[in-house]
Amino acid sequence: MIELQDALRRKEIWAVGGGKGGIGKSLITGNIGISLARLKKKVLLVDADLGGANLHTTLGIGVPEMTLSDFLSRRVENIQDVIIQSEIKNLSLISGAQDFLDAANPNFSQKTRLLRHLETVDADYILLDLGAGTSYNILDFFLFSDQGILVVLPEPTAIENAYRFIKSAFYRRFKKVVTHQGIKDLIDAAMDQKNTMGIRTPYDLIERVKLMEREVGEILELEITKFRPKLIVNQVRTKGDIQIGFSIKSACNKYFGINLEYLGYVEYDDSVWQSIRSKRPLAVEYPYSRPARCIERIVHNLLRKEQLTLSTLY
Ligand SMILES: Nc1ncnc2c1ncn2[C@@H]1O[C@H](COP(=O)(O)OP(=O)(O)OP(=O)(O)O)[C@@H](O)[C@H]1O
Ligand SMILES: [Mg+2]
Repeated sequence: MIELQDALRRKEIWAVGGGKGGIGKSLITGNIGISLARLKKKVLLVDADLGGANLHTTLGIGVPEMTLSDFLSRRVENIQDVIIQSEIKNLSLISGAQDFLDAANPNFSQKTRLLRHLETVDADYILLDLGAGTSYNILDFFLFSDQGILVVLPEPTAIENAYRFIKSAFYRRFKKVVTHQGIKDLIDAAMDQKNTMGIRTPYDLIERVKLMEREVGEILELEITKFRPKLIVNQVRTKGDIQIGFSIKSACNKYFGINLEYLGYVEYDDSVWQSIRSKRPLAVEYPYSRPARCIERIVHNLLRKEQLTLSTLY
């Protein structure tokens, strides 16, 4: 009976990415995890930043003995052996790869083995810190998740990277639903922003696909409506910075046809680096600081959305 209940329990995987380095992905992942754990949810944080793992630092944990590298390289067989309990009740962590160079680029079978094992873990929420970049591995984890969360800073370079991330994730998703080789090639070509075919946006691409195979173009149109990445603007200092989230949302809608959800913003505050310097998590060291409260609000937004989705299902 207990086993059946466990199997029926809904497990959510949330992934946090953003294309750019040093924008607060690990800070936000770690502290979302703490917020959820305080709401009595069982949370597993996974440092999937295979090239530059640092999620443990935002939690104030030293480099653990067992990391994701041990699992990926099969030094340990079971995912349980690399899960470490944090000091916070209900919160555990799989620390990122430290010494296994190939781990920065796991192959298909390593990735599927990881995801298969994660499905068996006893947790309500699994949060993946994806690290920077738009490599296929990062995009695949983002697309596989129930909630794909993008972090952006109110700066042109970070915003550019966020658009690039959204577009790449989108094209990657297209490629997974298409079997026609000619159209797959077209998607590959479209990923190059300077392509000579004049395809600049997913809209342009769909129009071109429709000319080749009308039905496939319509499937892709449907895919757009199903793709709903979430956005967090971090290091906000002014009201104008908060607005940037809304601008990105409307630009995504206008140019990409993507219905992005603006989850909220996190204020810039000295408490963040002070907590990192004291090697304690922000939400533990400064629970009433403005950024910690912003992250709590974001968690409530995420949970409210989940309930809305559930209530529309039943
Ligand atoms: N809201 C904030 N207020 C003040 N400083 C912040 C804030 N968010 C992030 N920072 C600063 O930015 C640094 C980088 O944050 P973090 O390590 O979470 O980024 P990241 O996106 O995970 O980086 P990487 O791509 O290297 O993994 C932090 O050490 C902190 O000093
Ligand atoms: Mg990080």
